[in-house]
Parts: sequence; C-alpha cells; structure tokens
Amino acid sequence: MIYSRITGTGSYLPARVMTNQEFAARLDTSDAWIRSRTGIVQRHIAESSQGSSDLALHASVKALEAAGTKPADVDLIIVATSTPDYVFPSTACLLQAKLGVKGCAAFDVQAVCSGFVYGLATADSFIKAGGHKKALVVGAEVFSRILDWNDRGTCVLFGDGAGAVVLSADSKPGVHASILRADGSYADILSVPGNVCGGAIVGTPFLRMDGQAVFKFAVRVLEESARETLAAAKMALEDLDWLIPHQANVRILEATARKLGLPREKLVVTVDHHGNTSAASVPLALDEFVRSGKIRAGHRVLLQGVGGGFTWGSSLVTL
Ligand code: ACO
Repeated sequence: MIYSRITGTGSYLPARVMTNQEFAARLDTSDAWIRSRTGIVQRHIAESSQGSSDLALHASVKALEAAGTKPADVDLIIVATSTPDYVFPSTACLLQAKLGVKGCAAFDVQAVCSGFVYGLATADSFIKAGGHKKALVVGAEVFSRILDWNDRGTCVLFGDGAGAVVLSADSKPGVHASILRADGSYADILSVPGNVCGGAIVGTPFLRMDGQAVFKFAVRVLEESARETLAAAKMALEDLDWLIPHQANVRILEATARKLGLPREKLVVTVDHHGNTSAASVPLALDEFVRSGKIRAGHRVLLQGVGGGFTWGSSLVTL
C-alpha cells in the first residue's frame, strides 16, 4: 500500500506589518475592539509588486529545503488560492516557472479558506493512486487586494502570506484520512461577488461577509468535521497531539476546541500575528509550530479548513 507523508514545511509572510493601531488611526475602530472580537494584533501586507506566486515561491523553497527535495524531483504542484496572480495561467504554473522546473502537473484549487486542506487531500489521492511520488502543496494569498479598506467589519480580519508542504510517497501513513465537504447554498454569507467582463468589473471586487453567520457556521462544521475525520481514521480525540483549524479568529478556534473537549494546550493559534490568510493559514501555522519544535516527528495533527463556498474539510496526519 502506498501512503503520503509530509516531509517538509515552509512559510512566508511579507515584510510589511500592519498593526491594529493603523486601522484605529483611519477608521472608527480600536485595537481593543479588534483584539477582543478576533484575537488579531497584526497582519502582513504584500508589496504591490508581489503576487501570490511570489509568496508561494518563498514558502515552497523553504519547504523543499526542509524536505531535502530538489524542485526537479517534484512531480505535482497544487496551489490553493482565491487571489491568483492572473485569471490564467494558474498560480501553480507561474510557481513552477519561478522554481525553474518544467513538465510536472501543476494546477490551482479554489476552495477559499479550505483550499489548503482540499489541495492536501487531492495530492494525497494522486500519490495513493500511484501516479505521483512528490507533491508540493501550497496555500498562498494576497487578500489585501480584495478588501474594502473602508469596511471596518472585514478589512481588519485578513492578511497576506503563504505556506507550503512537500508530500512524499511513503510505505507508512502520513495522511490517515481526509474528508472534504461543501454547501453552495451558503455562497452569500462570504463572497467576492464580482467578475471581469469586457474589460470591466461586473459586480463587486471586494469581500462581503455576514460575520455572525460565518462565525456560527464555522464553529459547527469544524466540530462536525473533526469528529467525522477522527472516525474515518479510527482514532479518538485523545490520539491527537495538535489541532490546527483554519486561522480565522481566536474566538472561532477556542469555541471549536471547547465544543470538542480538546485541551487548550493542543490548539494551535497563530492568527494573532498574521490575521486570516485564507488558504495559507493552515500550512503557515503548521510550519511555525514545526520550526519552533512544538510539533515533532510522530505527532498526530488534525488540519482543518473552512471558508467561502461554503467549503470545509479536515485531514488527519502523522508528521
Ligand atoms: N471596530 C469596531 N466596531 C466594529 C468593527 C470594528 N472593526 N467591525 C464591526 N463593528 C461593529 C458593528 O458595526 C456593530 O456595530 P452596531 O452594533 O453599532 O451595529 C458592532 O461592532 C457589532 O457587530 P457584530 O458583527 O455583531 O460583531 P461581532 O461580535 O459578531 O464581531 C466579527 C464581528 C469579528 C466579524 C465576528 O462576527 C466574526 O469573527 N465572525 C467570523 C468572521 C470571520 O472570521 N471571517 C473570516 C472569513 S471566514 C473564514 O475564514 C471561515
């Protein structure tokens, strides 16, 4: 039996840090409000010259180094993003060129904040099917480009960044189980309902959100998805060393851990210092905890995404 295993992680945050105080100087908001409602203290903002593929490149190089893998050995590149450089070609193809390689399969997945988990589950299936041996799975976003910077209800929540993993074929799992879900009837509670047509923007190019509806939906499905994925992997909550839910908001993360009955010290929280980076958030958090030595080889980690669509899903992995 062929399995897949994460053999290296990497991440990248743009240099420019934007604090809550910068919003307070411009909008009717405060550091205290943002911290108490979201737990977010700061976020990173990409330079106008940087696209998602540039952020993805930095994170990928680190993940490849950590895995001891040369770009030429990668036979599958999946980039999860809702803020691609172009309508086409895909950000994955642009990343492939920036890595200086050609030939391997490369495509994007679009599942908003669940994108990385969707990408990981897809790469796992490709590897288990036997056709691929080494995948680069990346979440990369420049959400700062799709925010209405005058809407205090949304612009304070998000940031830019990228995270990446190398997923390699192995005789031991690795990825134990992944479960992906979606419900398109909730499209309206979180969307960027715009498009490009005939050289003009049709609709709105800015993120729109019903915050309370998103909050309730996210907590409900993160709990359900954790239980469903643990059952699929034939494991119990006690078998988990770490839970890494999509880093949207500290209150969503803590409510999920509480509903599951998971001890707070097993919950990974990094959203405070980078905000919600959508598809990048899970691999960013994973890489930070791996590099700090908190998540170690042999640890069991539940990775969880939830986001626009609505989409959600979890992957249970042994590092
Ligand atoms: N500063 C000050 N006041 C604000 C701000 C702000 N930045 N944003 C909203 N408010 C105001 C509102 O206008 C409202 O004022 P009003 O009572 O005069 O009308 C008041 O605060 C309360 O607004 P609510 O929306 O009820 O505040 P709530 O406690 O729900 O917090 C928040 C809002 C933080 C958006 C919350 O709903 C939330 O976290 N939702 C989840 C959203 C999320 O994480 N989205 C990320 C994308 S989805 C994903 O990744 C899964």
